[in-house]
Amino acid sequence: MRIDVVSIFPEYLAPLDLSLIGKAREAGLLDVRVHDLRAWTTDRHHTVDDTPAGGGAGMVMRADVWGTALDEVLGSDGGTGGAPDAAPGRAPVLVIPTPSGESFTQRTAEDLATADHLVVACGRYEGIDARVAESYRAAGVDVRELSIGDYVLNGGEVAALVIVEAVGRLVPGVVGNPESLVEESYGAAGLLEYPVYTRPVSWRDLEVPEVLFSGHHAKIARWRRDRALERTALRRPDLVRALAEQGRLDRKDRETLTLAGWSDPVD
Ligand code: 6GU
Repeated sequence: MRIDVVSIFPEYLAPLDLSLIGKAREAGLLDVRVHDLRAWTTDRHHTVDDTPAGGGAGMVMRADVWGTALDEVLGSDGGTGGAPDAAPGRAPVLVIPTPSGESFTQRTAEDLATADHLVVACGRYEGIDARVAESYRAAGVDVRELSIGDYVLNGGEVAALVIVEAVGRLVPGVVGNPESLVEESYGAAGLLEYPVYTRPVSWRDLEVPEVLFSGHHAKIARWRRDRALERTALRRPDLVRALAEQGRLDRKDRETLTLAGWSDPVD
């Protein structure tokens, strides 16, 4: 997969050289390129912003500068996700991180992971002139305006790091053991992950739960599901409610939840 990130602070994206994503780049699984938006300015001062139409606080990023940049970056893969010999794949996706976007979730990450080419346009200030998203959408580009949570950041760069990491780790081969993708929080089970333990078996008078040494796989799986249910009921009751509504809680699940003091406000 090819990922282009365009920002006025390309140094902000330096963490993409590290860890799992950095290794995936070295292995050729991810082709991540970071661009300085100011490279597409034409004036002496490399201006990227201007005052908001209609007045108000802050500055808005100019549509013309973004348009020149995105035409080049979106167009540069020839529809092959950057692989010169590859067959034309899915059209590039333009991701615009913004606090006013749709929620970025694990489902969004799974969907974006099937793309051959992502272009992430990081806005600063009060955001990017709305005509940029409108114009690429009208031209048939899959444009996603995405928010990573209900709080405000100073710009899209941190959100871009979040999105690239969440999507990149779903690209086949990036995470060494694909099984680690299966049982995680926000995975298919719809529950938060159960608590995990390792050595030492006894630490500060706290013991690793006995059942985990039983070798009894079914018992361990049930224990983990019960702990996941308790934890999810406490921390994310909305997720438990969703499972209940979808009929995805069995009798033992409901028993565990009742013992944990869960009473479904829906009934
Ligand atoms: Cl994607 N951008 C900014 N600036 N703030 C945010 C956000 C994005 N998601 C949540 N807050």
